[in-house]
Amino acid sequence: MDQPNKPASNGQVRVHLDRCLWSAQGHVPWTVEEELRAQHFLRADRLRQMTPVLNEVRSQVAADRYRSQIPPEWEPLDAGFIDLPGHLLHQYRSAGENSEVGRILKQAEAIRGRFEQVVVLGIGGSSLGARALFEALKTRYHNELPAHNRLGAPRIYFEGDNFDNDALGDLIELLQVRCVDPSLQEERWGLVVISKSGKTLETAAAFRLLRREGHDYYSKRGDWPGAYVWVITGEKDSRLRTWAEQVRLPADHVFTIPERVGGRFSVFTPVGLLPAAIVRLDITALLQGAADMTQRFLDEPVERNPVLLLAAAGYLLGTEYHKPLRVLALWSSKLAAVGLWYEQLVAESLGKQGRGPTPIASVHTRDLHSRGQQHQEGPRDRFLIHVTLDKSCRAPMLLGMADDDAEQLNPLCRKSYVDLMQAAYRGTVHAYYQAARPQVAISLPALDEYSLGQLMQCLMLATVVEGRLLQINPYGQPGVEAYKKHMVSLLYAKD
Ligand code: PA5
Repeated sequence: MDQPNKPASNGQVRVHLDRCLWSAQGHVPWTVEEELRAQHFLRADRLRQMTPVLNEVRSQVAADRYRSQIPPEWEPLDAGFIDLPGHLLHQYRSAGENSEVGRILKQAEAIRGRFEQVVVLGIGGSSLGARALFEALKTRYHNELPAHNRLGAPRIYFEGDNFDNDALGDLIELLQVRCVDPSLQEERWGLVVISKSGKTLETAAAFRLLRREGHDYYSKRGDWPGAYVWVITGEKDSRLRTWAEQVRLPADHVFTIPERVGGRFSVFTPVGLLPAAIVRLDITALLQGAADMTQRFLDEPVERNPVLLLAAAGYLLGTEYHKPLRVLALWSSKLAAVGLWYEQLVAESLGKQGRGPTPIASVHTRDLHSRGQQHQEGPRDRFLIHVTLDKSCRAPMLLGMADDDAEQLNPLCRKSYVDLMQAAYRGTVHAYYQAARPQVAISLPALDEYSLGQLMQCLMLATVVEGRLLQINPYGQPGVEAYKKHMVSLLYAKD
């Protein structure tokens, strides 16, 4: 098996289990640390024993893609996300502009040509994927850059994910201050509203307020909603779709989330692709990464299969080694929003029937100065999944010499920021290994669309496989309905 931090080849995302595996073979002298590792690391033979089960679950997950008659007790069965990236690419190659990807690219271009700021409304699966892509793949200060440095891409603001009066008020104030004359492109803003059900209250309420704002602003010019609103919603029973029909929103302003793709699995539908394309991310590379990961999941033997290895490690450590907490340790600040996306993916997919791991996203090295203490010496109730980059996007910055050497860093003058990160990573892995804290590593060849496509598809597939191993339906989120029911009855109650 690969060593953690070994550069991945062929642009492939790799999963490494070395630092959580323990083998009874070989003559390792007895030490307290070795005894602890024997207790807390996965036994290599136990992992091997899982091979037939993993192959069986893989066949089941693969077969779910083709089921048309679905027994009620299997519902929901949102396996549509598995093949979708490959289908979209195939359709784009054969139908070009008339395909879904072609339509997305065309509308993205239209939006870029008309607006300097775009507000994306949505919550949960209708927001977190797009945000993860934006934060990981654009410069951190995209919105602060002048237009020409943004290469014509508008500023993007994510809202509609809370009932936060102040946060939405801040955004409206920003739009009012910055946008005074709707005839100037730099003073125009557009709205992309995303909701599969079309009735989520957080998104609907924000849409109402921004629609009112937009009406006041654009009616100065006699524009109507079609001029600045794009809708991404489900095929059926969506109030948002009904609204779009009522106001006769142009057909090319409306995108559909396929019926058999659940919210948190929808990043490779227009939900993630349209916002990504608006800011000029390469959505075909993103889809290619996801499609290649699906292929590897379907074809590769268990010992080389990133999805099955990740799912097996999570399942075994959670159930047989009593590690209910799962820390996704992201070794890049730009991956923080991928962490939020992952927390939702795991919590909503696997937190059912009193079971499932608790996901915790952590940005390193930042959180080594907070949670790090607990990971090292706290309860043995967790394992870590490190997500590392084989190279940074920008050229490494050297520390260099300083005459006063105030920080006493001159001996490190030839080290770069990348060297510091690598030393921190290696040091952390070593410290946790010595303390018998199990760790998995996922290495990304680069922080680009192709790697992110692979990573996100790998995490989605692994979550589905783990759900099947746990005998939990990973699709649907019945528990989320409870708060909504009480909230709605409180809101509609007569005083
Ligand atoms: O994963 C899910 O299905 C949920 O997190 C939804 O994405 C979230 O509740 C938003 O739902 P909707 O897109 O219907 O507004």
